[in-house]
Amino acid sequence: MLAVKEAGLFMDYAAIFGEAEALVSGPGSPAQRLQALCDLLKAKIPHYDWFGFYVAEAGKPELFLGPFAGEPTEHTRIAFGKGICGQAAATKEVFLVPDVSAADNYLACSLKVKSEIVVPVFAPGGFDYDKGRGAGEVVGEIDIDSHTKDAFTEEDRDFLDSLAILVAQDVAALRQ
Ligand code: SME
Repeated sequence: MLAVKEAGLFMDYAAIFGEAEALVSGPGSPAQRLQALCDLLKAKIPHYDWFGFYVAEAGKPELFLGPFAGEPTEHTRIAFGKGICGQAAATKEVFLVPDVSAADNYLACSLKVKSEIVVPVFAPGGFDYDKGRGAGEVVGEIDIDSHTKDAFTEEDRDFLDSLAILVAQDVAALRQ
Protein backbone atom coordinates (compact mmCIF):
# COMPACT_ATOMS: atom_id res chain seq x y z
CA MET A 1 0.00 0.00 0.00
CA LEU A 2 1.38 3.36 -1.05
CA ALA A 3 1.45 6.71 0.65
CA VAL A 4 -0.19 9.53 -1.29
CA LYS A 5 -0.52 13.26 -0.58
CA GLU A 6 -3.94 14.74 -1.25
CA ALA A 7 -5.57 18.03 -0.24
CA GLY A 8 -2.60 18.75 2.02
CA LEU A 9 -3.06 15.46 3.89
CA PHE A 10 -0.49 12.70 3.76
CA MET A 11 -2.35 9.44 3.26
CA ASP A 12 -0.29 6.42 4.17
CA TYR A 13 -2.66 3.58 3.31
CA ALA A 14 -0.59 1.02 5.21
CA ALA A 15 -0.58 3.16 8.37
CA ILE A 16 -4.32 3.83 8.03
CA PHE A 17 -4.91 0.10 7.62
CA GLY A 18 -3.00 -0.43 10.87
CA GLU A 19 -5.35 2.02 12.62
CA ALA A 20 -8.32 0.17 11.13
CA GLU A 21 -6.97 -3.14 12.46
CA ALA A 22 -6.63 -1.66 15.93
CA LEU A 23 -10.25 -0.43 15.86
CA VAL A 24 -11.65 -3.72 14.60
CA SER A 25 -9.83 -5.73 17.26
CA GLY A 26 -10.74 -3.18 19.94
CA PRO A 27 -13.66 -2.82 22.37
CA GLY A 28 -17.32 -2.22 21.55
CA SER A 29 -20.08 -3.96 19.64
CA PRO A 30 -19.69 -4.80 15.92
CA ALA A 31 -21.86 -1.78 15.06
CA GLN A 32 -19.79 0.53 17.29
CA ARG A 33 -16.50 -0.72 15.83
CA LEU A 34 -17.74 -0.31 12.25
CA GLN A 35 -19.05 3.18 13.07
CA ALA A 36 -15.64 4.13 14.44
CA LEU A 37 -14.07 2.80 11.24
CA CYS A 38 -16.42 4.90 9.06
CA ASP A 39 -15.54 8.01 11.08
CA LEU A 40 -11.80 7.26 10.89
CA LEU A 41 -11.67 6.67 7.14
CA LYS A 42 -13.89 9.61 6.22
CA ALA A 43 -11.61 11.84 8.30
CA LYS A 44 -8.30 10.41 7.08
CA ILE A 45 -8.92 10.12 3.33
CA PRO A 46 -10.02 13.39 1.74
CA HIS A 47 -11.75 11.86 -1.29
CA TYR A 48 -13.93 9.62 0.94
CA ASP A 49 -16.86 12.04 1.29
CA TRP A 50 -19.34 9.33 2.33
CA PHE A 51 -18.17 6.04 3.80
CA GLY A 52 -20.63 3.36 4.81
CA PHE A 53 -21.58 -0.27 5.08
CA TYR A 54 -24.56 -2.03 3.56
CA VAL A 55 -25.47 -5.38 5.11
CA ALA A 56 -27.05 -8.31 3.22
CA GLU A 57 -30.31 -9.63 4.69
CA ALA A 58 -30.02 -13.28 5.67
CA GLY A 59 -32.06 -15.33 3.21
CA LYS A 60 -33.29 -12.38 1.12
CA PRO A 61 -31.53 -10.65 -1.80
CA GLU A 62 -31.67 -7.20 -0.22
CA LEU A 63 -29.17 -4.85 1.45
CA PHE A 64 -29.91 -2.56 4.38
CA LEU A 65 -27.91 0.45 5.47
CA GLY A 66 -25.48 -0.15 8.34
CA PRO A 67 -23.05 2.27 10.01
CA PHE A 68 -21.97 5.22 7.84
CA ALA A 69 -20.23 8.61 8.02
CA GLY A 70 -21.43 11.48 5.84
CA GLU A 71 -24.81 12.90 4.87
CA PRO A 72 -27.93 10.79 5.52
CA THR A 73 -29.17 8.85 2.49
CA GLU A 74 -32.71 7.91 1.47
CA HIS A 75 -31.37 4.55 0.20
CA THR A 76 -31.73 2.57 3.41
CA ARG A 77 -32.78 -0.61 1.55
CA ILE A 78 -31.46 -1.72 -1.84
CA ALA A 79 -32.48 -4.90 -3.69
CA PHE A 80 -29.69 -7.01 -5.22
CA GLY A 81 -29.25 -5.83 -8.82
CA LYS A 82 -30.42 -2.25 -8.19
CA GLY A 83 -27.95 0.64 -8.35
CA ILE A 84 -24.21 0.25 -8.01
CA CYS A 85 -24.59 -1.32 -4.56
CA GLY A 86 -27.12 -3.90 -5.71
CA GLN A 87 -25.05 -4.81 -8.77
CA ALA A 88 -21.92 -5.33 -6.66
CA ALA A 89 -23.89 -7.60 -4.31
CA ALA A 90 -25.42 -9.60 -7.17
CA THR A 91 -22.20 -10.03 -9.19
CA LYS A 92 -19.78 -10.20 -6.20
CA GLU A 93 -17.48 -7.84 -8.11
CA VAL A 94 -15.94 -4.52 -7.12
CA PHE A 95 -17.70 -1.63 -8.90
CA LEU A 96 -15.47 1.37 -9.50
CA VAL A 97 -17.52 4.13 -11.14
CA PRO A 98 -15.34 7.09 -12.19
CA ASP A 99 -18.31 9.21 -13.32
CA VAL A 100 -21.73 8.43 -11.81
CA SER A 101 -23.48 10.67 -14.38
CA ALA A 102 -22.46 8.12 -17.04
CA ALA A 103 -23.76 5.08 -15.06
CA ASP A 104 -27.19 3.83 -16.16
CA ASN A 105 -28.08 1.69 -13.12
CA TYR A 106 -27.31 4.20 -10.38
CA LEU A 107 -29.21 5.41 -7.29
CA ALA A 108 -28.38 9.06 -6.63
CA CYS A 109 -27.90 10.10 -3.00
CA SER A 110 -26.78 13.65 -3.56
CA LEU A 111 -26.01 15.83 -6.57
CA LYS A 112 -22.58 16.44 -5.05
CA VAL A 113 -21.53 12.83 -5.63
CA LYS A 114 -19.36 12.42 -8.75
CA SER A 115 -17.72 8.99 -8.34
CA GLU A 116 -18.27 5.85 -6.29
CA ILE A 117 -16.64 2.55 -5.36
CA VAL A 118 -18.44 -0.48 -3.92
CA VAL A 119 -16.51 -3.48 -2.59
CA PRO A 120 -18.29 -6.70 -1.56
CA VAL A 121 -17.66 -8.14 1.90
CA PHE A 122 -17.67 -11.94 1.94
CA ALA A 123 -18.55 -14.29 4.80
CA PRO A 124 -15.57 -14.63 7.14
CA GLY A 125 -13.48 -17.70 6.38
CA GLY A 126 -15.70 -18.57 3.45
CA PHE A 127 -13.84 -16.63 0.81
CA ASP A 128 -10.73 -17.87 -0.89
CA TYR A 129 -9.34 -15.44 -3.48
CA ASP A 130 -7.73 -18.39 -5.28
CA LYS A 131 -11.15 -19.89 -5.93
CA GLY A 132 -12.48 -16.59 -7.24
CA ARG A 133 -15.11 -14.23 -5.90
CA GLY A 134 -17.97 -16.46 -7.01
CA ALA A 135 -17.16 -18.92 -4.23
CA GLY A 136 -17.90 -16.42 -1.46
CA GLU A 137 -21.22 -15.46 0.15
CA VAL A 138 -21.81 -11.71 0.19
CA VAL A 139 -22.65 -10.59 3.74
CA GLY A 140 -22.48 -6.90 2.93
CA GLU A 141 -20.37 -4.27 1.27
CA ILE A 142 -18.30 -1.16 1.68
CA ASP A 143 -19.72 1.83 -0.23
CA ILE A 144 -17.81 5.08 -0.73
CA ASP A 145 -18.93 8.24 -2.53
CA SER A 146 -16.65 11.04 -3.61
CA HIS A 147 -17.48 14.62 -4.58
CA THR A 148 -14.57 14.43 -7.04
CA LYS A 149 -14.85 12.81 -10.46
CA ASP A 150 -12.53 9.85 -11.05
CA ALA A 151 -11.43 9.92 -7.40
CA PHE A 152 -10.77 6.20 -6.87
CA THR A 153 -7.62 4.36 -7.91
CA GLU A 154 -6.30 0.82 -7.89
CA GLU A 155 -4.73 1.78 -4.56
CA ASP A 156 -8.22 2.29 -3.11
CA ARG A 157 -9.40 -0.99 -4.61
CA ASP A 158 -6.53 -2.94 -2.98
CA PHE A 159 -6.91 -1.12 0.34
CA LEU A 160 -10.66 -1.74 0.40
CA ASP A 161 -10.36 -5.40 -0.62
CA SER A 162 -8.08 -5.92 2.40
CA LEU A 163 -10.45 -3.88 4.57
CA ALA A 164 -13.37 -6.07 3.43
CA ILE A 165 -11.58 -9.14 4.83
CA LEU A 166 -10.78 -7.28 8.05
CA VAL A 167 -14.41 -6.26 8.71
CA ALA A 168 -16.09 -9.47 7.51
CA GLN A 169 -16.87 -10.80 10.97
CA ASP A 170 -18.36 -7.55 12.25
CA VAL A 171 -20.43 -7.00 9.06
CA ALA A 172 -21.73 -10.60 9.23
CA ALA A 173 -22.73 -9.99 12.87
CA LEU A 174 -25.13 -7.23 11.75
CA ARG A 175 -27.17 -9.53 9.49
CA GLN A 176 -30.85 -9.92 10.43
N1 SME B 1 -25.22 5.27 -5.14
C1 SME B 1 -25.59 3.99 -4.60
C2 SME B 1 -26.68 4.13 -3.55
C3 SME B 1 -26.18 4.26 -2.16
S1 SME B 1 -25.55 5.79 -1.80
O1 SME B 1 -24.29 5.99 -2.59
C4 SME B 1 -25.17 5.96 -0.21
C5 SME B 1 -26.02 3.04 -5.69
O2 SME B 1 -26.16 3.43 -6.84
O3 SME B 1 -26.24 1.87 -5.38
